[in-house]
Amino acid sequence: MTETTVAGQQMAPWWKTATGYQIYPRSFCDSNGDGIGDIPGIISRLDHLRDLGIGFIWLSPVYASPMADNGYDISDYRDIAPEFGTLEDFDRLVAEAKARDIRIVMDLVVNHSSSAHDWFRAACASRGAPEHDFYIWRDAAPDGGPPSDHQACFGGSAWTWVPEVERYYLGHFSPEQPDLNWQNPELRREIYDMMNWWFDRGIGGFRMDVISVIGKDVDAGVYEEGPYLHGFLQEMHRETLAGRDVVTVGESWSVSPETALSYCGRDRHELDMVFQFNHVTAFEDEVAGKWKPKPFDLRRFKAIFATWQGVMAEDGWNSLFLSNHDLPRQVSKYGDDGTFRVASAKMLATVIHLMKGTPFVYQGEEIGMTNVRFERIDQFRDVETLRQYTGKVAAGMAPETFIAGANENGRDNARTPMQWTAGAQAGFTDGTPWIEVNPNHRTINVAADRADPDGIFAFYRNLIALRRERPVVVAGRYLSFAQDNPAVFAFARDLDGERVAVIANFTGTPAEFDVPDGLAGAGTCLVANHAPRSELSGRITLAPFEAVAVLLAARGERDTQTEGAT
Ligand code: GLC
Ligand code: CA
Repeated sequence: MTETTVAGQQMAPWWKTATGYQIYPRSFCDSNGDGIGDIPGIISRLDHLRDLGIGFIWLSPVYASPMADNGYDISDYRDIAPEFGTLEDFDRLVAEAKARDIRIVMDLVVNHSSSAHDWFRAACASRGAPEHDFYIWRDAAPDGGPPSDHQACFGGSAWTWVPEVERYYLGHFSPEQPDLNWQNPELRREIYDMMNWWFDRGIGGFRMDVISVIGKDVDAGVYEEGPYLHGFLQEMHRETLAGRDVVTVGESWSVSPETALSYCGRDRHELDMVFQFNHVTAFEDEVAGKWKPKPFDLRRFKAIFATWQGVMAEDGWNSLFLSNHDLPRQVSKYGDDGTFRVASAKMLATVIHLMKGTPFVYQGEEIGMTNVRFERIDQFRDVETLRQYTGKVAAGMAPETFIAGANENGRDNARTPMQWTAGAQAGFTDGTPWIEVNPNHRTINVAADRADPDGIFAFYRNLIALRRERPVVVAGRYLSFAQDNPAVFAFARDLDGERVAVIANFTGTPAEFDVPDGLAGAGTCLVANHAPRSELSGRITLAPFEAVAVLLAARGERDTQTEGAT
């Protein structure tokens, strides 16, 4: 393993000091004017990412795909989609990134393939084909209907009838995404060989799409965290990951503090990290999900992070994020995308980047990109949004109501093109983009933000550098403070007698805050989105969305029993 050194201390492995950056290739940069972002476009923007200081890119899928779900439906695991480029372009991306100290982490989508994969074509042609058993088939119910009433995540029945073989197959997400049958050892062999093939091309790891679904027991109706999950992950580790200096992050919408270490505990030999969503689903309706959000409650939000920081305190490792390609823009969701856009974008970054774990920045987050406001359903592109619209409007929902919900929480918010300039199509393409650019690119764009020494980009660059330079940011113990305060997020990080105090106002109004003893003191201001503070004591008034981090001067042996310590 490559051990990274921070200020003379061993901080192995590399991904604990690195910051990740997610690229959604379709929306990042178009090099040839066809309106679709591509790999040469990414290469042309690598200097932007080097300047930001990130250590690796999580690249959303670039494999061959009919793009029913923008690449989360793969038709050839060993090729690149022509609209994104070629394998040569990909190799060049790996090399050009490496020259800038950036690794490329690919997206592994193996819960399902595309219905256009050769395996699936063969599987549908005959029950006798070896590939038939690569998918999950069940006979019709006695009435001829589907074998269960399981609903696909993107709407409608999860079962689709194939007349040629007189059976239903499972598409847990959509019919275009048939589930792979992990019970079949030849299928697993194919997947492991494919992973090794990419590793041999020089990639730095995998983000694993909906990995918690691969161990399902369909007949028992158990899809998430099923009984076979950890056996498969341990086998995958033995067959592909063992001995390699790579990073793995498994996406799981169901992982809880109770199950987290079963994926990433040090003796498990499964994954390095999970992407958990407790802080997202806590504010969604139990049934209607994101289409019926619950009001935000900072106390609950803080408690969730404190729990995860505690669970991973000694073993495992957290991923840290508020945004990705499936979520609304964080400044719109948790901050203020109007008056306090810049302040709130910086405040959210301060909190996430100063916790213990590996932070992930989603493209455009580093300049405070916001949600988009579409008026008509034909402006949306996302398969989930479009299918849910059909279902919900058929069930009687007013189209305007649905569109309001999609503007708030739909996935297209994160997928409008990256805003590079104030010019035509935000500098994303010379052609017509596959999805409209956000009109606010005239003011919110990379060129403008980077020209401002007080811009959001400069602020992120400082946070990312702090993680590379200061062991306390990487390894420091996390302590919560003022847990019951509904407006202020306050915590500390401790390492070897050093303490960093972090205080952030999550509201658009000034907040009076009585600095708890454990955060009080004088020292060096590391981060501030308002007037810097080098002293914290007594009652302070935080400006709207103010965030500050102070490295407190040592004051002898610190009391380790500080309030609310986790
Ligand atoms: C994951 C991806 C999402 C995709 C789904 C099905 O949740 O992040 O974009 O639609 O899996 O592959
Ligand atoms: Ca293109």
